[in-house]
Amino acid sequence: MSDLLRIEQLICGYDEAQVLARIDLSLAQGQSLALLGRNGAGKTTLINSIVGVTTHHHGTIHLKGEDITRLRPEQRAARGIGWVPQERNIFRSLTVEENLTASARPGRWDVSAVYTMFPRLQERRRNLGNQLSGGEQQMLAVGRALMLNPKLLLLDEPLEGLAPIIVDELLAALRRIVTEEGLAAIIVEQKARKILPLTDEAIVLNRGSIALAASAKALLENPAQLDALLAI
Ligand SMILES: Nc1ncnc2c1ncn2[C@@H]1O[C@H](COP(=O)(O)OP(=O)(O)O)[C@@H](O)[C@H]1O
Ligand SMILES: [Mg+2]
Repeated sequence: MSDLLRIEQLICGYDEAQVLARIDLSLAQGQSLALLGRNGAGKTTLINSIVGVTTHHHGTIHLKGEDITRLRPEQRAARGIGWVPQERNIFRSLTVEENLTASARPGRWDVSAVYTMFPRLQERRRNLGNQLSGGEQQMLAVGRALMLNPKLLLLDEPLEGLAPIIVDELLAALRRIVTEEGLAAIIVEQKARKILPLTDEAIVLNRGSIALAASAKALLENPAQLDALLAI
């Protein structure tokens, strides 16, 4: 019962469609998990099911021992689930600072802590969301999720479509968040080799099922297995 997140026999999808096939998964306090798999494997569906924006068919999700399976997304957020969606979804007509403070909750992460993590956001604090580069939008999406002071941070392909120099900057920030700050996180990523060095555990999804669960280190040390599981 000491798990932060415990998912049992979860089947979720979209209306009648069942995308996830009886997922069992648990994450301890302070642990980070790389969620890997080919395009269409169900990674976003699993993240969105933890957030509460898919159709639930079967199974349970517990956060710190509390059954949150039937809670609405905003109720789950209030209990500590922070989400950086694949589409980023920042408020385009609000400034950077307004984006950060819009859904803030008290805790370790406030505006100044986020600006320390992402100095670029401080420089852009008075710019509107729609004036930001892709990398700045992604930093803002991460910063906004941190402002919720979550117990669990969910990141859906945070490096997607970003220039290499920005990828390195974001990876350095994510490393600080999950290793130094010890925030529990699930990170979806196509570039497995970039993310596995940051995470403790890894799972590979295939057609909505868990094809492999291993430590991140074990998977990194077995590139042939990794390539076989992730090859298109
Ligand atoms: N809104 C949706 N409605 C119906 N089916 C969807 C929807 N989003 C995704 N799917 C289907 O669910 C499966 C898993 O998709 P997704 O979770 O987005 O995969 P991934 O994030 O691993 O690329 C795919 O077969 C996809 O076509
Ligand atoms: Mg996806």
